[in-house]
Amino acid sequence: MSGARAVLLETARRYALAYKEAEVRGDYETAIVNLKRSVEALEDFLRLYPDDLLAPRVRKLILQYKDRIKMLERKMLVVASAGNGEEEYEVEINEQKEKSNGVRTPPEFVLKEKPDVTFDDIAGLEDAKQAIKEAIIYPIRRPDLFPLGWPRGILLYGPPGTGKTMLAAAVANEIDGEFLYVDAASIMSKWLGEGERNVKKLFSYARSRAKEGVPVIIFIDEIDALLGVHTAEIGGEVRVRNQFLKEMDGIQDKSSNLHVYVIGATNKPWKLDEPFIRRFQKRIYVPLPDFKARRKLLELLTRKIRLAPDVDLDELARILDGYSGSDIRDIVQGAYMRVVRELFESGKEGEPRPVTMEDFKEIIRRRKPSVDKNMLKLFEEWRRRFEAL
Ligand SMILES: Nc1ncnc2c1ncn2[C@@H]1O[C@H](COP(=O)(O)OP(=O)(O)OP(=O)(O)O)[C@@H](O)[C@H]1O
Ligand SMILES: [Mg+2]
Repeated sequence: MSGARAVLLETARRYALAYKEAEVRGDYETAIVNLKRSVEALEDFLRLYPDDLLAPRVRKLILQYKDRIKMLERKMLVVASAGNGEEEYEVEINEQKEKSNGVRTPPEFVLKEKPDVTFDDIAGLEDAKQAIKEAIIYPIRRPDLFPLGWPRGILLYGPPGTGKTMLAAAVANEIDGEFLYVDAASIMSKWLGEGERNVKKLFSYARSRAKEGVPVIIFIDEIDALLGVHTAEIGGEVRVRNQFLKEMDGIQDKSSNLHVYVIGATNKPWKLDEPFIRRFQKRIYVPLPDFKARRKLLELLTRKIRLAPDVDLDELARILDGYSGSDIRDIVQGAYMRVVRELFESGKEGEPRPVTMEDFKEIIRRRKPSVDKNMLKLFEEWRRRFEAL
């Protein structure tokens, strides 16, 4: 074996490991840097050994890593690209692979960290919070009080920007267990069969942890992507979907007392088909914020901002009827940006002036709600058909 060949592969592997470590620490910047270096080494490898036995696998790996870099950069949150490319890669090129130390690690497309969000950070959504407590938190704390079993599948659906992802993240902080964050788009991949394999891997990891007595919550964000036409190959998504249905049946088996939960979130519930929907016994609507929730949200968002005495949060909450939580966040940020911009442009030092009612109104005039009436109607219709609290 040529020296350069081994060195390049080893280099790629080392950076890939460093990437993984950084990712586990939550240091995505370092993770990205290492992943890029790993890609560089792999690309050098391909240039020198285009016909190598490993070249096809290396090509695939590069694509996966690039995908992942993109996702990491985009979200700085979700670890992208499906597939445990590295694992295979290690098995194949690293014949003297050391025996693993027995610690199981989740598939790489899973983000295992607990996000820093609690129920108190979420404005409104009292029904949704309560439903989640009854469906997940109570059964985990006192399974003995649930002789009839408990739901394992929970679907959060509602317009974009209403706090679905936040809600799921907050659940993680309420339980003493493992929280697996998965972006559905990252389960799907361009290579036929991989999405299916990723689903298998995800659930098998969750089951193995649950068998050790650890409650596991799998949160699949944008779950409609599992059914979408994301794969290049025809039929890929059908297999992913079927595998997913099978896994859901597995965890819902009455004889199983394992605490494995699946929370799915979507803002396009009508993309889900009936067998899919049925696997989620609890379906929780996450609506646009009502007056009280908007008021609370404004309060939370302006906590660290100096407000002029004329700012009336009640009035703002009234004006913002029809706006989503993330719209409101953007509006508060926009209003604050006005005073910051002013400060910079004035060339002065010191603190920006307080934010006034006019700052808010100016931003609101220029921003329409991101969810329109027609879309809301679609949600209401879907809700009437499928709501299951
Ligand atoms: N109820 C809420 N309480 C507090 N913040 C909220 C709420 N709803 C939305 N936000 C703000 O909007 C942002 C987006 O919310 P989130 O990502 O949870 O929405 P989502 O429902 O998952 O949207 P999407 O369907 O587009 O994924 C949050 O990070 C938060 O800043
Ligand atoms: Mg979301």
